[in-house]
Amino acid sequence: MSRLRHLLTLLPICLTPVLADYLGPRYPPPADLTSDESLVAASWANLTSTLQAYLSGIDQSAASSNDALSAIQNVTFSLGMFSIHDSAATEILQFHHTSAEVANAPNGTNQVDGDTIYRIASVSKLFTVYAGLLGLDSTDWDRPLTEFFPQLMETSNNNNNIVGHVQWDLVTPRALAAQIAGVPRDFLSLGEFLLQPDLNPTALGLPLLDSNDPISSSLPCIGSEDPACAEDPERYIMGVQNRPPTFLPWTSPGYSNNGFSLLGLVLANITGKTIDEIYRDSIFDPLDMTNSNSSPPIQSEWFRAVIPGDISYFASDSDMAKSSGGLLSTTQDLAKLGVGILNHTLLPPDETRKWMKPLSHTARLQSSVGAPWEIVRYTYADSGVVTDLYTKGGDSGHYGSFFVLLPDFDAGFSILTASTSAERLTIIGAIGDLVADTILPALMAQAAAEAESNFAGSYTSTVEGLNSSLTLSLNQSQGAPPGLAISSFISNGTDVLLTLPGMRRNLPNRLLPSIADVATGQVAFRAVRGADAPSVQVGPISQFVTADWFSVDGLTYGGLSTELFVFDVDSSGRAVAVNPAAFRVRLERTDG
Ligand SMILES: *[C@@H]1O[C@H](CO)[C@@H](O)[C@H](O)[C@H]1NC(C)=O
Ligand SMILES: *[C@@H]1O[C@H](CO)[C@@H](O)[C@H](O)[C@H]1NC(C)=O
Ligand SMILES: *[C@@H]1O[C@H](CO)[C@@H](O)[C@H](O)[C@H]1NC(C)=O
Ligand SMILES: *[C@@H]1O[C@H](CO)[C@@H](O)[C@H](O)[C@H]1NC(C)=O
Ligand SMILES: *[C@@H]1O[C@H](CO)[C@@H](O)[C@H](O)[C@H]1NC(C)=O
Ligand SMILES: *[C@@H]1O[C@H](CO)[C@@H](O)[C@H](O)[C@H]1NC(C)=O
Ligand SMILES: *[C@@H]1O[C@H](CO)[C@@H](O)[C@H](O)[C@H]1NC(C)=O
Ligand SMILES: *[C@@H]1O[C@H](CO)[C@@H](O)[C@H](O)[C@H]1NC(C)=O
Repeated sequence: MSRLRHLLTLLPICLTPVLADYLGPRYPPPADLTSDESLVAASWANLTSTLQAYLSGIDQSAASSNDALSAIQNVTFSLGMFSIHDSAATEILQFHHTSAEVANAPNGTNQVDGDTIYRIASVSKLFTVYAGLLGLDSTDWDRPLTEFFPQLMETSNNNNNIVGHVQWDLVTPRALAAQIAGVPRDFLSLGEFLLQPDLNPTALGLPLLDSNDPISSSLPCIGSEDPACAEDPERYIMGVQNRPPTFLPWTSPGYSNNGFSLLGLVLANITGKTIDEIYRDSIFDPLDMTNSNSSPPIQSEWFRAVIPGDISYFASDSDMAKSSGGLLSTTQDLAKLGVGILNHTLLPPDETRKWMKPLSHTARLQSSVGAPWEIVRYTYADSGVVTDLYTKGGDSGHYGSFFVLLPDFDAGFSILTASTSAERLTIIGAIGDLVADTILPALMAQAAAEAESNFAGSYTSTVEGLNSSLTLSLNQSQGAPPGLAISSFISNGTDVLLTLPGMRRNLPNRLLPSIADVATGQVAFRAVRGADAPSVQVGPISQFVTADWFSVDGLTYGGLSTELFVFDVDSSGRAVAVNPAAFRVRLERTDG
């Protein structure tokens, strides 16, 4: 008894109102992205008309509002959404633009669509990690690289110089996948001045390299375009082994194409398969991605691909580059990938959830890094609520791409582009921003609208003489935090919102979804506190004790949390009853 009293006296402090919520969705994911009633379909129409305005150059006000978008007519691109709850989204929510350059190209298609093959550049890294998650034991991720490539021991053993040498025995597949191994970024041509045509080093203030230069003379492939350097793992490893690290492992994320070339070799070593077999056997075939490949198609099939400018960017193929940036895919196939991941077709739900978490921050509050997710923390302008986007981008040669998963909505989208324009990456980034700014508020609004029709309303006890009821509503007032608001909660004649600690905290209470069990038709929600109170202290330390995740499940009655509400839903997802767990009561839905 005294312990309960102690807890209750702490409550006013612990449960100070702050819109902190839990990580994840504010509503169950929307099921309708495509019907005439869907707010997502409406926003897609809005998006495509905005794109059309930029493309035609007619809407000068639109064109002048975003410089990057005003140049989109010169970029060929394919845009597509997908959702695990609305399979029609893949077909219906697509948009394609063919630039003059591609319409007149001598090779490849002259008109792009959902089945056009693009190079996806560094989106390949996502396939490499996915294949690893599907094919490796969990312990393989933490094995030192020296186990796979014993020759690296030489560098590790000489490790009295951690500034100058990578500690290869501390580099693991997991660190490579999370871009936090600190290994050199690139290998061969990318970024190497020695490979610039007509290089005059001294004009750039760089010294001439003498033949005894301790680094470059020990690297067989630096400054060389010998194809063996891109095909032969031994030569490849020799080329990176003695270069200095960017950081010590697990210090800061540092983008590394080389890290993914090495990860590809690790996968090949563990599975005993070639890199081509790995993608085909573990991902392309099981997800029916029939137009995806780890090599460009043969010439008679080029008509299915988009090939702007010089064919060399399309047709070149190097084994060592595949796991970092060598794959090819289509809008339709990337939708299959997205649905396959979000619907747990290959990787079990728990492993998928674990995969879609950050492994490190960046120096920017808005972005974190996973394996190899580029995680964007998107903030809605109206509510300040955050949705995490799990993205992977790519840009190489004449191709740029983004693949974006929105786990909170069980949906996502991809953007594939092809162009010789030097502005390609800026333009595709601007397209991505436009898609996100248009689609995310619509997904949130659609999820809210569906939650309103599925869950809002009155629930009442059918037990004779028992005065117990719950009313839920969607709060439409300006600035109201998202979630289902508890407008009233009477239990056995008592207004719980006025009396019960925890419920009482700060009106309005809101319900956020926590666990959905499709098999049994049970959907659990948890009550969180209401709106931000400006008076609340959210200092660097004090913010922790006012966060919802900190107080979750804090008050119980007979072992059941007072914040747990379990709904029974019918096959269409509509609630028929609610069970406020601690109250041991079933309240039947009484409205319509
Ligand atoms: C698009 O390409 C054409 C032809 O190459 C060029 O004249 C024009 O300046 C480009 N437009 C933009 C906005 O970059
Ligand atoms: C996701 O999986 C469920 C259950 O297997 C299935 O009914 C649904 O059609 C899948 N979604 C899509 C878009 O394929
Ligand atoms: C993996 O690497 C180890 C160490 O170099 C080697 O002994 C083994 O044969 C390799 N396995 C495969 C399948 O290449
Ligand atoms: C088109 O492909 C052929 C080879 O099939 C090649 O000779 C030609 O140079 C290519 N055109 C361009 C613009 O790359
Ligand atoms: C269309 O999008 C613009 C900008 O994203 C937004 O201001 C406008 O309200 C949207 N209109 C509709 C009908 O969604
Ligand atoms: C709706 O939100 C407003 C603004 O946050 C708040 O003042 C009001 O109490 C809320 N109403 C309900 C029923 O939750
Ligand atoms: C309702 O409250 C009364 C006392 O006011 C009590 O006798 C009764 O057992 C309660 N019923 C339930 C179901 O809690
Ligand atoms: C149920 O209880 C509430 C709160 O005490 C009260 O306002 C209401 O009149 C009661 N309803 C009935 C039918 O007794």
